[in-house]
Amino acid sequence: MNSSFVYSIPTKVYFGENQLQHLGKELRNYGTKVLLVYGGGSIKKNGLYDKIRKEIADSGLELFEYSGIEPNPRHTSVNEGAEICKRENIDVLLAVGGGSVIDATKFIGAGAYYNGDVWDLVTRKAPITHCLPIITILTLAATGSEMNAGGVITNLDTKDKIGMGAACMLPKVSFLDPTVTYSVDRYQTSCGCADIFSHVVEVYFSMDKDLSMLDSFMEGLMKTVIHYAPIAMEHPNDYEARANLMWASSWAINGFINGGKTHAWSCHPMEHELSAYYDMTHGLGLAILIPRWMKYTLNENTVSRFEQYGRNVFDIHNDSDPMVIANKAIHMTSEFFFKTLGLKSNLSELGIDESKFEIMAKKAAQNGTFRAFVPLDAEDIVNIYQLCK
Ligand code: NZQ
Ligand code: ZN
Repeated sequence: MNSSFVYSIPTKVYFGENQLQHLGKELRNYGTKVLLVYGGGSIKKNGLYDKIRKEIADSGLELFEYSGIEPNPRHTSVNEGAEICKRENIDVLLAVGGGSVIDATKFIGAGAYYNGDVWDLVTRKAPITHCLPIITILTLAATGSEMNAGGVITNLDTKDKIGMGAACMLPKVSFLDPTVTYSVDRYQTSCGCADIFSHVVEVYFSMDKDLSMLDSFMEGLMKTVIHYAPIAMEHPNDYEARANLMWASSWAINGFINGGKTHAWSCHPMEHELSAYYDMTHGLGLAILIPRWMKYTLNENTVSRFEQYGRNVFDIHNDSDPMVIANKAIHMTSEFFFKTLGLKSNLSELGIDESKFEIMAKKAAQNGTFRAFVPLDAEDIVNIYQLCK
């Protein structure tokens, strides 16, 4: 067991309703010129935009806006945002949205200190040295970007989608109001839930001997998603369901569950290629991949981990052979994604054929899946894509 690690996530979180009254005060800690960054307009439809403008006006802050951040945010948008920061001498960034807006804002903040294409920072061609302070208002429970230092940016010219992080990009403050997520539709709710679930899966499936309290915590997170996802889908305004999913999203990927584990993730690199080539919704791609990856990695060496997953997450309590329990657990994972969450189960349903499998596999393997739970090379990854057809 490797239980030596450093854990430091100093993001201050305001959780719950009626917390926006603290927004002005928190922004003011970092200056007076605020750049509000948001996406395609959902915050205007649900009334959040007006509330934010009022808080900022009441606090006497100077407001600038940059909107139109796309799902799977593009490096070109990040470059535009960074230019505004330089031109207007912005002091602090306010990201209002889901993971795409928050991720883009992180690179806008870093790009404000870089003379050149922000893509250089994403691809590690140039180091990320500084970032403008970031405050977030999360509107979709999914990526955990509100409480971690990473971001994922897409370059449509090169067909690359790359994740990169730096401590300076960690949000200083995040506002998590579950009622803001009432307006998230069924599809984005299910994709978000698949993403939260996947962040735990990527860490849970490891043959490292874990701190067992982290195993229990991860099993609790997965059970939370399984329990509350269908409630949020059926009753979008159910506060309890939205609150549990929102807090689960942050804790699934703020570093806590890693507990010293350093192995590479498997399904995210494979999914990021699907998003890069087909602009797919992240959670949907993960839902399609995970059960196939599980099938592919189940063997005599790994069966004990799948058995524990089956018993503790899906409550499969019987005396069957571990392999039987493992297979049942994988089946129940598929049922959760495709029946409960109602997500499409095959790439062909999305019009994706095998023409890009090899190139996507090659790129995904470069991103380190060979250090994963079960090491995967490009050929393995093609095989897993084939299982998703
Ligand atoms: O753009 P708007 O109009 O706001 O609409 C968005 C968008 O169309 C909508 N939405 C968000 N909040 C809403 C809402 N609609 C109604 N009511 C609300 N309250 O939802 C759509 C999707 O938003 P997006 O931000 O793209 O979703 P998500 O939060 O799932 O973010 C996905 C991105 O994050 C990356 C993914 O790869 C993808 O690019 N990830 C970031 C991670 C991180 N930083 O740690 C880790 C993840 O594994 C992931 O890779
Ligand atoms: Zn994810």
